[in-house]
Amino acid sequence: MRPLVPALLVLLAVPAAADDKKPSTKPPVVAKAPARDDQSLGRPEYLSDLARQILRRRMERHGRDMIHLMTGVVLLRREVVQTIAQELSREPRITRPLPDARDELNSALPEKFFVLQDELRERAKALEEAAKARNDKELGESFGRLTQTCVACHSAFLAPKGTEPQ
Ligand code: HEC
Repeated sequence: MRPLVPALLVLLAVPAAADDKKPSTKPPVVAKAPARDDQSLGRPEYLSDLARQILRRRMERHGRDMIHLMTGVVLLRREVVQTIAQELSREPRITRPLPDARDELNSALPEKFFVLQDELRERAKALEEAAKARNDKELGESFGRLTQTCVACHSAFLAPKGTEPQ
């Protein structure tokens, strides 16, 4: 029976050792998922619901594109960059309101929005060109400039909660 004792000890030790690897046997403290609005950049309250719906769909796409673009730029996946940048630059623009337009979305947006929208398109085109030309220095720089436009527009239009847009 002697050899059984070490064997039992081993058996007993195994689960204990496995337990040691776990951070704790207590249920992990799961951070409560913050409400959607806690994570978001803020709601531009001055935009109509329709304007926000349309913009949000577009921006969710931009958000996904941006992640792929960043990976593409950093890892020099030039074809990926070229494709996404081209899509961004060809995205239908929200047009400026005509003087007597009753169009809710267009009229809800200030001029600066359209200026930045055009800038985004130009910078996406430049990024596409850099990828096409295999100019890696320009690839990095033009990606940086594109990102600046995202930031500029969010900074202008997404006010922190509870304050007016700057
Ligand atoms: C011309 C202005 C403009 C430009 C340029 C712009 N955005 Fe936005 N973005 C907005 C507005 C306005 C909203 C808020 C929409 C809403 O009400 O939900 C927004 C929201 C977003 C959101 C959702 C944020 C949240 O609250 O969860 C993402 C993601 C986003 N933008 C990504 C991008 C990326 C990436 C770029 C650049 C490639 C970009 N945007 C460029 C105006 C812009």
